Amino acid sequence: MQHVLTIDQLNDDFIQEVFQKARTCRDAHKRYPLTGLSGRVLACLFYEPSTRTSSSFIAAMARAGGSVIPITQGVQFSSVSKGESLEDTIVTLGQYADAIVLRHPDVGSAARAAAVSPVPIINAGDGVGEHPTQALLDLFTIEEECGIPLAQVGLGFLYPRAYALKEDLSVTFLGDLKNGRTVHSLVELLLRKKVRIHLISPILLPLPAYLRDQVLANGGTEKFVGYTGLSLKDELRDTDVVYMTRVQKERFSSTFMSEYRGLKDACILTPSIVAAMKPTCRILHPLPRVNEIPREIDSDPRAVYFKQVQNGMWVRMALLMKVLQ
Ligand code: NCD
Repeated sequence: MQHVLTIDQLNDDFIQEVFQKARTCRDAHKRYPLTGLSGRVLACLFYEPSTRTSSSFIAAMARAGGSVIPITQGVQFSSVSKGESLEDTIVTLGQYADAIVLRHPDVGSAARAAAVSPVPIINAGDGVGEHPTQALLDLFTIEEECGIPLAQVGLGFLYPRAYALKEDLSVTFLGDLKNGRTVHSLVELLLRKKVRIHLISPILLPLPAYLRDQVLANGGTEKFVGYTGLSLKDELRDTDVVYMTRVQKERFSSTFMSEYRGLKDACILTPSIVAAMKPTCRILHPLPRVNEIPREIDSDPRAVYFKQVQNGMWVRMALLMKVLQ
């Protein structure tokens, strides 16, 4: 049984197979209806709000012939509101579904669910912990936008439709790196690729130390906004990828709301910063955004966050085909 709880459980071969399948599904659906998930049932259990993650899993099942038990409008409409434990809810859904996608506010909740579940658990975000399927679609997008097709360099025999990243590709993470679980999973994944990782955040929202130390040991850098001398325009001028994130308001308790208000505008990608970035740079964001990327940037060809959204559906469809096969 293949759970998907953290990114480090997924090896490079598995990930490449998922990406190959995602590309095949994306091409094939234009010619005929997909049926790879027909007869399969997925339960989507969301204890936290979601638009993209829940909808992309539901769309992936629908477009490949499967169906979904959707507990995505809020667990207040399920027996969770009567006090049912996570474990009992998981065991119950495991009687109906072939896999369960879980989003929950507590770090480690996906592992707790996996310990009792009769079917595979897919972690769709466990608090400020991890969000491994988002990291997959983020890497998929970075590869397609910035990578070199292996076939082009004579290495397509293994994975004919795969891409490689150049070793000195520079990826800059900007925003709330402390609470952004998508950042945690993607940094972990990119550390395998030997790209150069740069971290820029408010000093109060740094990447957790266990990841930051690996980034620095691999030749990356860490800088903080809000200090005289740090210019975002200069920092982003030469980078190949900007991975922007929002300050995660829901992770600040009510006592710390004034801290949130002081931080929410700390990292904004203004049009003048974007104008100075390389023409080949790509701007990614897991979304939702609040105010960190003004809408006028959406029409810039370097902004690929809505492409990322669609990639998410194909990557999740392919992942489901692997997990449910
Ligand atoms: C992210 C999440 O929920 O962690 N969204 C997503 O899944 N695409 C990012 C966020 O909420 O800021």
